[in-house]
Amino acid sequence: MSNIDQASSATIRKQNEYIELAQFYDLLMQAGYYDHQAFVNSLALILGSRTKILDVGIGTGLLTEQMLQVQNYEITGVDFSEEMLVKARRRLSDYNVKLLNLDIRDYPENESFQSIISSGGTICISHQDSGQYRLYSYCDDKLDHLSLLRKLYNLLEDDGLLIISIQGEHKNYSKAISEDITYSQEINYSGDYMTKWYTFSNEEKILSRQSVKLVVFDEIEMINSFTEVGFKSLGVDQSNKFYVFQR
Ligand SMILES: C[S@@+](CC[C@H](N)C(=O)[O-])C[C@H]1O[C@@H](n2cnc3c(N)ncnc32)[C@H](O)[C@@H]1O
Repeated sequence: MSNIDQASSATIRKQNEYIELAQFYDLLMQAGYYDHQAFVNSLALILGSRTKILDVGIGTGLLTEQMLQVQNYEITGVDFSEEMLVKARRRLSDYNVKLLNLDIRDYPENESFQSIISSGGTICISHQDSGQYRLYSYCDDKLDHLSLLRKLYNLLEDDGLLIISIQGEHKNYSKAISEDITYSQEINYSGDYMTKWYTFSNEEKILSRQSVKLVVFDEIEMINSFTEVGFKSLGVDQSNKFYVFQR
């Protein structure tokens, strides 16, 4: 039995937990298609003097590592995928970061942060080819998303920022991520949901495959969901990499 099989049979699988994906996640993110350094520079400009940060869906800690190389941020990272956190703990062992295996929807509201970041994490925003923005949330439904936003609002200090990275439109494609491994993604929409299949394969076989299901909001619904719980929309940052909301 592989490590992945053992992990998934030992515990009950949570919806959208990154299990099969975790093994190849860093390879995909470090294949040259993402510029984490540029993200860090934009974040530094948005954050200004804010250093106490909650990262929701910290994953394997790739962005966090780069952030901590340039500034002494006080970061708490939350993720409910143990397979991703194992890598984050290893990567960030030399830094003073608090890493919690927790569903952010269960985070206790007994402290506050100057900023909350979701970089492709629990909440994602895409900039569609049409020019519109869309929001994708790792929540069960639209009401669940609203209660997550309420929690994030309560976890921010007054004037605190919720910073969400902007991705391109989700599309079907395949690309090489190493000499012999290809990554493919397939997108399907149904009602309020997008299902995204991630597949890693070599010439002979599929090495790993899993899907996630996210609830989708169009631009107007997206803005309304933030303002409904009290956030102000500050809009897109100068670099067009982040959408920013303020408590
Ligand atoms: C695409 S990864 C992004 C990781 C990281 N932020 C990065 O930039 O590479 C999304 C992460 O969000 C986590 N996640 C999604 N919903 C979550 C939730 N409700 N609570 C905690 N973590 C969650 C997943 O486990 C996964 O590790």
